[in-house]
Amino acid sequence: MENGATAARTAVIVAIDGPSGTGKSSTSRAVAAQLGLSYLDTGAQYRAMTWWMISNGVDVRDPAAVATAAGKPVLVSGTDPADPAITVDGVDAAGPIRTREVTSAVSAVSAVPEVRAVITELQRSIASAAASSRGIVVEGRDIGTTVLPDADVKIFLTASPEARAARRSGELKGKEAADVAATREALIKRDAADSSRKTSPLAKADDAVEVDTTDLTLRQVIDRVVTLVEEKRAER
Ligand code: DC
Repeated sequence: MENGATAARTAVIVAIDGPSGTGKSSTSRAVAAQLGLSYLDTGAQYRAMTWWMISNGVDVRDPAAVATAAGKPVLVSGTDPADPAITVDGVDAAGPIRTREVTSAVSAVSAVPEVRAVITELQRSIASAAASSRGIVVEGRDIGTTVLPDADVKIFLTASPEARAARRSGELKGKEAADVAATREALIKRDAADSSRKTSPLAKADDAVEVDTTDLTLRQVIDRVVTLVEEKRAER
């Protein structure tokens, strides 16, 4: 078995950023599973914080109220790509964080600097724990720019608004899935909010590799990212 010092030298930290519907989660999980790395879904952490605020009667449109409450919930993220669990105060939050109510409030909550400070610290401690084993794939909006600026590999995924809306609709069920136009509008609105906020907005790091996934299959995107990680490892 690898000892800690050897693992730390060979561990790889991969940051995958981009807007919603670009295939970030599917790609990140598959790359982590294929390479035997841990996986962290940072969007789930912002969603879990938002769900806690709503469940505890905090007005999510009031940044001061959100800031005051930001340190209260205890968020615990699993890092197994086969089972990306998340709990809040010990309660399984994986289902509730995907509701439309949470999705429409998450940009406002994640724009509050106190929320970002709490969650960024959590993300850094999870990444640093993973660095003493094989490494981790961390997916989000500001991972390459702010959370882990020294990541070994940085990827920025993009896709046309049409492709993103079609993919997101495919993930939704029933009535919500039928309305691709509404999904497209909601996506564009959320990305605009995430890109224009003051504190660590959605942005491509200068040293990130941009991959446009519009005309690629998921398999092709995964292969591209795995190749980039393997090239990086071979350089060492
Ligand atoms: O990836 P997702 O759609 O589950 O993310 C939900 C929201 O969380 C997204 O609209 C913006 C926010 N987010 C963020 O601000 N920073 C991150 N690193 C990840 C997500």
